[in-house]
Amino acid sequence: NQIKIGVMVGSLRMDSFNRRLARAVEKLAPDDLAFRHIQINDLPLYSQDFDAAYPAAATRLKKDIESVDALLFATPEYNRSIPGVLKNAIDIGSRPWGTNSFAGKPAAVIGASIGSTGTALAQQHLRNVLAYLDMPVLAQPEVFIHFKEDLVSEDGSIGNDGTRKFLQGFVDNYVAWVRRFAR
Ligand code: FNR
Repeated sequence: NQIKIGVMVGSLRMDSFNRRLARAVEKLAPDDLAFRHIQINDLPLYSQDFDAAYPAAATRLKKDIESVDALLFATPEYNRSIPGVLKNAIDIGSRPWGTNSFAGKPAAVIGASIGSTGTALAQQHLRNVLAYLDMPVLAQPEVFIHFKEDLVSEDGSIGNDGTRKFLQGFVDNYVAWVRRFAR
């Protein structure tokens, strides 16, 4: 019974370190987890006017979220919070009122930054948002990656043993968390 994971990366950058980190996690996960990246780079900026007639890309996003069993958020930290593009995608997925596509889906939050705090503050903001959206979010281990070039390659290969072991520990806990909620 395959478990579908939707990956939401909070960076639109071509060579995003957070996308690399998400790929590394995907590589460490067992075969019965199927990962798919959820597209957010073509979404319009949310307006409450949408609620009368949701734009096509916004409807697609909601369907993408509804089609997965769990979410994995890999986010950069922008100015000590989450990037606007990610918040915009979450706002779109949460509406129109009464049709929150995220409700009840288990999730985890990870992040990489070039700063030594490793997205800790952004992740705390994101946890607040996800709690409001009624998502059970894995508490531990926290994954605050201080990213240096070569730590994770574009295909998700990890450059050192310590990081690989640490991320494997995260993956094992995440898989157990997701399975607890799987129908
Ligand atoms: C940053 N960066 C950053 N880093 C950090 O640790 N704390 C922060 O508050 C910020 N703020 C910030 C704001 C803006 C507008 C930008 C563009 C960048 C640096 C950030 O960690 C770095 O650009 C990462 O490479 C972003 O992640 P991706 O795009 O590589 O996934």
